[in-house]
Amino acid sequence: MFVDAHAHLYDGDVKLIIENAKNNLVQKIICASSDIETMQKAVAISNENEGVFATIGIHPQDAEQFSAEIEIFMKKLAKNPKVVAIGEIGLDYHYDGPAHDLQKKVFRAQLKIAYELKKPIQIHIRDAMSDALNILSENKKLLKYGGVVHCFNGSKEDAEKIIGLGLDFTIGGVCTFKNAKSLQETLKFLPLEKIMLETDSPYLAPEPVRGTKNESKNIPYIAQKIADLKGIDIQEVARQTTKNVERVFKI
Ligand code: NI
Repeated sequence: MFVDAHAHLYDGDVKLIIENAKNNLVQKIICASSDIETMQKAVAISNENEGVFATIGIHPQDAEQFSAEIEIFMKKLAKNPKVVAIGEIGLDYHYDGPAHDLQKKVFRAQLKIAYELKKPIQIHIRDAMSDALNILSENKKLLKYGGVVHCFNGSKEDAEKIIGLGLDFTIGGVCTFKNAKSLQETLKFLPLEKIMLETDSPYLAPEPVRGTKNESKNIPYIAQKIADLKGIDIQEVARQTTKNVERVFKI
C-alpha cells in the first residue's frame, strides 16, 4: 500500500481520481490546501471520501489572505478529525508575489497555529531555503509535532539541517526527471525512514508520464525511482514510506 502525502484534489473528477489511485494501491491521500477556498474544498473532499485527509493553510504566494479572522477560521476547521496538518505554509521567492517580510510573518504565525493545535506542518519552500531554515531554526519549539518539507529539492546540507529540526521530506515526481541529478544524489543519502511520497498533483507528473495531468495513481513511479536509487525493493519503499506517514500525520 502507498500513500500520496500531498495532492491537490479539487480539480476534475475527484471520485475517479481517488478510484484510480486505489486501483494502483494508493490507499490514502492527503489533500493539501493553499488558500481560503481550497481549505474548504479539501475539508469537504476529505469528509466525503474514505482514505482522504486534508491539510489547511495559507500558501506563501497567498500570504495577503492571512488575517486574525482566518486564524479563527482555521482553528474551527481543524476540529474536524480529517484535518491532519497545517499546510502548505512556507516561503516562495520564485514569483513576484507577496513581500518577503509578509511571507515570513505569515509563515511564523502558522507555525504557531500548528503548535497550538498540536498538528504537524507541511512546508513549501521555493528559492527561499536559507530564510526558511532560519525561521524554522529560530522557532524549533513550534516544530514539536513534526512535519514535512514538501517537494524537497535541496542539497545534502539542507537535508541534514531539516533532519536536525526533526522534520521529514515528501518527495514527488521531480526525482524521476533526467535533469534532477542533484536531487537523486541527495535521495541516495536520505534515510528511507525520513521519506514520504507525494504527487503534488495535478502538477509535476513523473516520468514516464511527464507532461500529463498528474494524479495520485502515479505514486508507484516515484516509489520505483526511489527504490532504484537506493538499490532496494519497491515493496520496502511502500512499507516504510507508509509507516512514516502514519508516524507524522497519525493516519
Ligand atoms: Ni502543493
